[in-house]
Amino acid sequence: MSQKLRIALAEGDGIGPEIMGACLGIFEAAGVMEHVEFVPAEMGERVFAAGNSMGISDEGMRIVEDTGLVYKGPMGTPVGKGGKSINVTLRKMYGAFANVRHFQSLPNVETVYSKAGVPIDVVIVRENIEDTYGGIEHRLTADVVECKRLISAPGCDQVHREAFETARRLGITKVHCGHKANIMKMSDGLFLERFKEVAKAYPEIETGDVIIDALCMNLVLKPQAYDMVVLPNLQGDIVSDLAAGLVGGLGFAPSANIGHNVSIFEAVHGTAPDIAGKGIANPTSLLLSGILMLRHIGLRAQANTIENALMHTLEQGVHTGDFGANSGKPAVGTREFGAAISANLGNEPATHTVRPAKGVSAAIEHGRPERPKAHTLMRTFTGSKSEIVGCDIYLDTTLEPAPLAEKLKGICEGSPFKLTMMSNRGTQVWPSGSVYTEIVDYYRVRFELRDMAQAAGMEQATLIKLLGGIADAFAITDFQPLKYYDGKPGFSLAQGQ
Ligand code: NAI
Repeated sequence: MSQKLRIALAEGDGIGPEIMGACLGIFEAAGVMEHVEFVPAEMGERVFAAGNSMGISDEGMRIVEDTGLVYKGPMGTPVGKGGKSINVTLRKMYGAFANVRHFQSLPNVETVYSKAGVPIDVVIVRENIEDTYGGIEHRLTADVVECKRLISAPGCDQVHREAFETARRLGITKVHCGHKANIMKMSDGLFLERFKEVAKAYPEIETGDVIIDALCMNLVLKPQAYDMVVLPNLQGDIVSDLAAGLVGGLGFAPSANIGHNVSIFEAVHGTAPDIAGKGIANPTSLLLSGILMLRHIGLRAQANTIENALMHTLEQGVHTGDFGANSGKPAVGTREFGAAISANLGNEPATHTVRPAKGVSAAIEHGRPERPKAHTLMRTFTGSKSEIVGCDIYLDTTLEPAPLAEKLKGICEGSPFKLTMMSNRGTQVWPSGSVYTEIVDYYRVRFELRDMAQAAGMEQATLIKLLGGIADAFAITDFQPLKYYDGKPGFSLAQGQ
């Protein structure tokens, strides 16, 4: 009976089958197939074309759920037909919460930094599910749309723990948290706060934090300053591509999407329709992603042997047409490039870090978690107590601040709440402000308890009564109760408040 670890295999569209063929050939030569069985899972353009808007067949989903590991080539996303990116669907549906990308300078891959003799070796860990990527968007008024940005404490904990675990596995001794907590004090503030909390379990790893804009400048000026950076989703998305640029582009950037139940290892470039079928595509990104996968499942010796062979091959000046023009050698095709790496298995690079092929795990260390019986409810602050102290009500109106405030004060008279603040696009326009503040047709109006002693036992129904009174006079777009959590305000102040 086969004891091999099963991995779902999706070759991908466009150049996918060509680069996947090259990678599997190298795996075969390195003895990976003695431990692993790849099971084809149907997804991508063909599935979309058959009218399945998810882009993955039922059988494909069953294989992904059954194996919990996916090795995939690039997939085309149908433009403007309602089909969503299969890459994003897989990551979100299966909770692959941490995107791990390793960017390193490669021999004979010429970049501004390689020419300057600046080596690059940085891992970017990006939260993969939350943030603006929930895609929760609404048109609130004629002129204003909103995108909700959700950051959860358990979501932060997952990605931070994965970052520290990866750092420990790879021997990385310093991890930074990138954020914009100086502006988004609550959401990015929570991301940073949880980073510091999770870090306590990894005392051997040094930590630091850096504001996202400074991080971008520093990565360009002195990329050696960072070993690993963990970031919220959107910031991580942008910084990942910045880091790819440092090492020669997306063709050299591997990607692992790690989840509790399903992890996905994929190339970050697309299907390259312009060169598909020509046999000239570069398999390096997909191979490096495969190396991350082999390390993840315990085949570290095989992963290191392949990485050493890849670096040695690049040092020899072997290259596909998209890079290495200065090597003095003609470009080879995808298949020849793969064959050269296979032939170099056992050889080590002279100019690049040699990864140990002995004394590290060479057998499967990956246990497949049980299929969950229900959705897993993740909690962090289980004992937290909250009290209602007011509400923010959002209005669709073109009134000037002063007459609007007069009307609202009249409506809340006699209720336990008083009007305390109004803002427009986040800037306070009442009770004080500047006439120079330009406004749009969307206000936030804040009501707070006249007497904070009433917070204890304050019912939501009392707020709803106030909301009803405002709704009789104005078009309401949204409503947000204001609460204290364990005695601390769970809401931000307006700019200028
Ligand atoms: P692309 O990455 O496919 O191509 C951009 C340029 O890079 C092209 O000139 C291409 O020839 C070149 N290139 C990309 N990978 C290469 C490789 N391995 N070797 C040599 N040259 C390579 O980006 P594009 O054209 O924007 O997207 C094409 C399709 O790929 C779209 O349907 C898009 O949705 C999809 N896509 C899929 C991704 C994934 O599956 N992870 C990621 C990005 C795009």
